[in-house]
Amino acid sequence: ELDMGGEGKPTVVIMFPGLQYLIDHDAIESRFTILKLWEADDRMAFFKENADKIKGLVGNASIGASAEVIDALPNLEIVSMHSVGIDKVDLVKCGERGIVVTNTPDVLTDETADFALALVLATMRRVCAADRYVREGLWPLKGDYPLSHKVSGKRFGIVGLGRIGSAIAKRAEGFGCSISYYARSKKSEYAYHFYDSVLELAKNSDILVLSCALTKETTHIVNRDVLNALGPDGTLVNIARGPVVDEPELVKALVEGRLGAAGLDVFEHEPQVPKELLSMDNVVLQPHAASATWETRRVMADLVIRNLEAHFSGKPLLTPVT
Ligand code: DGY
Repeated sequence: ELDMGGEGKPTVVIMFPGLQYLIDHDAIESRFTILKLWEADDRMAFFKENADKIKGLVGNASIGASAEVIDALPNLEIVSMHSVGIDKVDLVKCGERGIVVTNTPDVLTDETADFALALVLATMRRVCAADRYVREGLWPLKGDYPLSHKVSGKRFGIVGLGRIGSAIAKRAEGFGCSISYYARSKKSEYAYHFYDSVLELAKNSDILVLSCALTKETTHIVNRDVLNALGPDGTLVNIARGPVVDEPELVKALVEGRLGAAGLDVFEHEPQVPKELLSMDNVVLQPHAASATWETRRVMADLVIRNLEAHFSGKPLLTPVT
């Protein structure tokens, strides 16, 4: 049983509907008063109405604790994120207010790295286009047969060699690819080739996979020059965050054939997807799904709840960001 300091159950806002499929409601509701943000018509009005009670927030890759939300909640103590990425949390403001932030590192590393390779393979081997070809009854040969491109042995570039980036590298090694990377600094623990700019990495890669965090420095780090350097035979895969890529430039590069192909799990203005991409067979589109397996999302949800419980019972947090 949690010791709530005699103040009753802490009020926690769950900001997105997906969590409800992953948690044991009775167990959670016995510990917290849960408010569901997505049931509110006007989010800021909802926060203002419940401002005094709210002590915890649960966000994810699409919604978190912005400065405006934090300012509206004078008693907020913890933001427990159902994601490893924390770009939706104003960390500076949380720091100033002494609000603790937790996320879900490690538990989704394998899943996300698996998915990066799935996107490389699906994109280069035109798996989705070939599937459409069969479903549309074009086989045997009534339309253009979906010839694709080889993955094994290609030059594999990775932007960001953190937990997920290095797990991607390990998998790509299994395909006989030569591995290079760009990161803020060289990582002595890996023998992979280091480039000190994304542009140089792109010039020397057939496949460029983005697995860095979204920060001021990485926003639009993949620009027109990088896309041109990757070139008409190159493939871009983004499992990081949409704004890491200058999306209008990406669309132009694909439309003009200056970039070979793209596998995209994330977009600059999710859930909006640029309409030009919808008809392209050399593009694979996914709904920000890299960590979205039952197995991993349940473990992430459990970590979210355990961090809240730890905080409200004065125990050490399991996975604090700050
Ligand atoms: C993350 O964890 O940051 C993913 O983008 C969503 O699970």
